[in-house]
Amino acid sequence: MADTIHLQVSRYSPEKDAAPYFETFEVPFRKDWVVLDALNYIKDKKDGSLTYRWSCRMGICGSCGMLVNGEPKLTCATFLADYSPAPVRVEPLRNFPVVRDLVIAMTDFMRKLQRMKPWLIRKEEKPLSEGEYLQTPEQLDAYKQYSMCINCMLCYAACPVYGLDPLFAGPAAIALAQRYNLDSRDERPLPRSLSARRHLGLHVCR
Ligand code: SF4
Ligand code: FES
Repeated sequence: MADTIHLQVSRYSPEKDAAPYFETFEVPFRKDWVVLDALNYIKDKKDGSLTYRWSCRMGICGSCGMLVNGEPKLTCATFLADYSPAPVRVEPLRNFPVVRDLVIAMTDFMRKLQRMKPWLIRKEEKPLSEGEYLQTPEQLDAYKQYSMCINCMLCYAACPVYGLDPLFAGPAAIALAQRYNLDSRDERPLPRSLSARRHLGLHVCR
């Protein structure tokens, strides 16, 4: 088994590069290393200017999403061993503007998400003195699966409609709309998805 592996990493500094290009780095190959470990090795030992996002290293924060050999992946959960001995190509998520190297701008998603009103809407708030809005386990189950999104943007990078139609809200924003639609505490008169269908291009999604 090889003791090193090559990473072909997309580089782009808007102030000096006309377009992104690939730079190849040789890093140690360890079978328990994920792609994020290799990027951290490059940043620590080879080129401190390499720019990418990460935080939790455990599939929770959603910030380490990148294309690995063309597929959207959480790089903290993608093992080098699944690619060795071939080189691993790492690029920013597609369908987003690139800020620098592997960092994308999420402005479009944040704007569309806000339009979905991803918060509880009440006809009338009850006073704090009356306590919480309680739910049964069944009422929680009704929306729980839609509440697990970590905003990693992998689904946006995989979605051809999002790439083609600037009006399309995209999978995560729609899932979050549904999360609040199905919440027994929410009292919005028009379901968020109906509003989204009119304004955010759901008609093109098959
Ligand atoms: S719905 Fe999309 S953004 Fe949310 S966790 Fe799943 S892939 Fe990531
Ligand atoms: S570093 Fe947080 S999900 Fe990968």
